[in-house]
Amino acid sequence: MRAFRSSDLEALRQLIHATIDVSYGDVYPPRAVQFFKDYHTDERILERHAAGSVIVAEHERELLGTGAIVGDHIMAVFVHPDHQRRGIGAAVMDDLERAARAAGRRSVCLDVSLPSRFFYESRGYANLRSCSIDVGEGEHLDYWTAEKHLDVGEFQQGARAGAPTRCGILHRHRAQLNAQTLGGQWGESHRSEK
Ligand SMILES: CC(C)(COP(=O)(O)OP(=O)(O)OC[C@H]1O[C@@H](n2cnc3c(N)ncnc32)[C@H](O)[C@@H]1OP(=O)(O)O)[C@@H](O)C(=O)NCCC(=O)NCCS
Repeated sequence: MRAFRSSDLEALRQLIHATIDVSYGDVYPPRAVQFFKDYHTDERILERHAAGSVIVAEHERELLGTGAIVGDHIMAVFVHPDHQRRGIGAAVMDDLERAARAAGRRSVCLDVSLPSRFFYESRGYANLRSCSIDVGEGEHLDYWTAEKHLDVGEFQQGARAGAPTRCGILHRHRAQLNAQTLGGQWGESHRSEK
């Protein structure tokens, strides 16, 4: 595991997009898959790198996994489909949570995709809210927000009273698209429920 370098950019974007295609292709509708790919651009990877920390799991000069943390928000955790279920995602999360603890964070939050729910639950993340983005033509991108307390034991997790109930960074991206560039291409309405 090591820190992202700017020379990783193309390989990292390819890793993320390949993982989205394979891991999300069976569970999300096509427009949601495209939404994820439009979200994970080179620009956004560099933003995370500038604002926080991006890490990569590398083996023999090949990038196999990645994750990032900005403030208390863990994001963009991906393991290449050919290398999933070998502990790489867990190692990425261990590093990100360690960084959060070292920075004095008492909890971390993240957005949970449909296929990653059991992974995060097994790590003690408590789902806070279910969210759904209207990506147009009757298709939706469903996900949850979740939180983990870092200052209690792994098996004593739970949603804290008064925990944040708003939807996560994907909703903010959707709102930006509507407000700035695409003028509502993804549809105007969105549902988010507790
Ligand atoms: C979610 C993801 C990061 C997990 O990475 P990974 O390297 O496959 O996970 P690990 O091998 O470290 O799994 C650790 C444990 O999590 C649990 N787990 C992981 N994937 C699981 C799955 N699909 N179903 C059930 N449990 C799962 C298991 O308990 C696993 O331990 P085990 O293999 O000994 O049973 C990876 O599958 C992925 O990139 N998915 C697509 C992208 C994604 O959804 N990313 C999350 C963004 S919100």
